[in-house]
Amino acid sequence: MAKPILKWAGGKRQLLDELKNRFPRSYTHFHEPCFGGGALFFDLEPENGTINDTNSRLINFYKQVRDHPDELIELSRSFKDPESEPDPERNFSETNRKGKSISNYYYQQRELFNNRPYGDEYDDLEEAALLLYLNRTCYNGLYRENSSGGFNVPIGRYSNPDWVREKEIRRASRVLQNTNIYNTDFEYIRNKAEEGDLVYFDPPYEPMSPTAYFTDYSADGFGQEDQQRLLELAKELDQKGVSVILSNSGVMYEMYDEAGFHVEVEGATRAINSDAENRDEVDEIIATNVPPKQRQTVGQSGLSDF
Ligand SMILES: C[S@@+](CC[C@H](N)C(=O)[O-])C[C@H]1O[C@@H](n2cnc3c(N)ncnc32)[C@H](O)[C@@H]1O
Repeated sequence: MAKPILKWAGGKRQLLDELKNRFPRSYTHFHEPCFGGGALFFDLEPENGTINDTNSRLINFYKQVRDHPDELIELSRSFKDPESEPDPERNFSETNRKGKSISNYYYQQRELFNNRPYGDEYDDLEEAALLLYLNRTCYNGLYRENSSGGFNVPIGRYSNPDWVREKEIRRASRVLQNTNIYNTDFEYIRNKAEEGDLVYFDPPYEPMSPTAYFTDYSADGFGQEDQQRLLELAKELDQKGVSVILSNSGVMYEMYDEAGFHVEVEGATRAINSDAENRDEVDEIIATNVPPKQRQTVGQSGLSDF
């Protein structure tokens, strides 16, 4: 049971048991098309399958974890405390792209991490190490981009931040060895999932109310048309004999219910807004096409097993 390396908005650690309770008794490959921090994937440690996310820098990170764990750990070790002085040998040691003064090491690394979206040269390994560093030292472990794709979360206040994560990286690297990693829209799964496979979709949640704002994962956003596309895809996969499990906010209950999925409200409370005073409570649903009688848990707790 590996743990996620990154803290990610909408991480599913609290929902793991409810998700696993809906697993079919057996499946061939496991796929997670909206990966984020991958809490379920790392908990399962599947032997093969696919993962995907539209966030390019996140996906580059997992590729580096899989293919270059030693180099990633070594580079992470060379980073300094976020409040220390900027590195005079690197760019942005005095001012950022807007000409504002850089007050500490954290803001210099944040500016360097944004080389890719602002069209400057970047190195894949360094970008991955910076993603981990910022995730472990930024405010609340948030990932948020501005409309140009620039990561813009301010520095956090931690007494002893740990950004190397050697144990977690080595374990995740082993788990990812036979996993194909994609950086595209979730529709890729139409051609990848085969009969007998299991797909877990955890898209950005549809807001419970017009004021709730949960689509802040990337500059692209995720709208109602995307939710509709996802439902259509889930129906297609069902027709193909693929097991589908999906989590979303309570407003999606009817859509999945009407489409013939087994839907239940989990009632979890999650706080994913960056604004502490505006943290909404969210009803969560889990929808699946796996019938209750064909789930793993039924087989394990049946009387005949004892
Ligand atoms: C709720 S988060 C997933 C959290 C994850 N289950 C975890 O445990 O950390 C949703 C993810 O979907 C990704 N995403 C957004 N639009 C997408 C799309 N069109 N296709 C695939 N992934 C997308 C976001 O970048 C984000 O990482």
